Amino acid sequence: MKILVTGGLGFIGSNFIIQLTKKYPKFKITNLDAYLPGSNVNNIDVNKIRNYTFCRGNINNKGVLDKLVSKSDIIVNFAAESHVDRSIKNPKPFINSNILGVYSILEAVRKHKKKLIQISTDEVFGSLKKDSATEEFHLNPSSPYSASKASAEMLVNSYAVTYGINTIITRCTNNFGPRQSPEKLIPKVILRAKQDMQIPIYGTGKNIRDWIYVLDHCDAIMKVMFEGEKGESYNISSTNELDNIDVVKKILKLMGKSSKLIHFTKDRAGHDFRYSMNSQKIYHKLHWKSTSNFETSLKETINWYLENEKWVKNSLKKINL
Ligand SMILES: NC(=O)c1ccc[n+]([C@@H]2O[C@H](COP(=O)([O-])OP(=O)(O)OC[C@H]3O[C@@H](n4cnc5c(N)ncnc54)[C@H](O)[C@@H]3O)[C@@H](O)[C@H]2O)c1
Repeated sequence: MKILVTGGLGFIGSNFIIQLTKKYPKFKITNLDAYLPGSNVNNIDVNKIRNYTFCRGNINNKGVLDKLVSKSDIIVNFAAESHVDRSIKNPKPFINSNILGVYSILEAVRKHKKKLIQISTDEVFGSLKKDSATEEFHLNPSSPYSASKASAEMLVNSYAVTYGINTIITRCTNNFGPRQSPEKLIPKVILRAKQDMQIPIYGTGKNIRDWIYVLDHCDAIMKVMFEGEKGESYNISSTNELDNIDVVKKILKLMGKSSKLIHFTKDRAGHDFRYSMNSQKIYHKLHWKSTSNFETSLKETINWYLENEKWVKNSLKKINL
């Protein structure tokens, strides 16, 4: 089987490639990544992975994309601008990668009659006070990032309905684990706490997210790739809803650091209060549920960032931190 992973130098894409090659060593994997924010060349050790080819390029480059899609069986699209704060400062790159990029992929997939797995997010459902969104919930995004991801979902669905192409959408909650850019909450807290630096938290820190270990997410994507139904979407969550301040306090406790490092800042514009998804569909139809324990995975994640100094240095340099 030949798999084209787009955005595979980023956090989830790189973990996915590593897991995929462990589980299916005979698969041929090509990774197309433009080396934009979130990516890190050190995320994948080419010497440790067999049957792997890296291609530096943009999903909007139709020539490159067309060639790679034509040679693949399945395309798994992780490529996206993924940081909400960046989307508030400048939405344009989000439109380019997350909407126009998906359009390019859809055109190539349509032409060559291939299968596409589009990786989406719980943020497309917007802020929910009480409910947990099922796959049938209406999309109600509030940031330029989530709006671009919701637009991508609509494009994917329109191509499935109009042209009959083979697509599946997965939506996941907040991921954590190794190889995530230090501009995201958990790595940022770990790396600042290590140096006893102040930890900035938006607003009151009461915003709620459902946290899933990245390897659980990758496992769910593999399940969907091979057993998911054409034209369907699957929510992937782990029923582990926590407010941001609790997550930060847990990290500080595990690292033996004082909660006095926490420093509340002006809230993010349009900050969604709570994301929540119901993932009964993937559980009942594909018999998948997350298995990682939050505390254990969080400890492993902390150790990974403390042990991988070269990786951290490279990432901080890339994002000018
Ligand atoms: N991180 C999360 O908690 C989370 C949760 C749910 C869904 N997602 C989705 O999962 C996917 C991966 O997220 P992530 O956290 O790994 O993001 P990331 O920012 O770490 O990685 C994104 C990767 O995509 C690449 N990329 C961006 N635009 C590109 C383009 N036009 N052409 C080629 N490559 C491009 C970047 O270089 C980077 O390597 C995204 O689609 C995101 O919306 C993320």
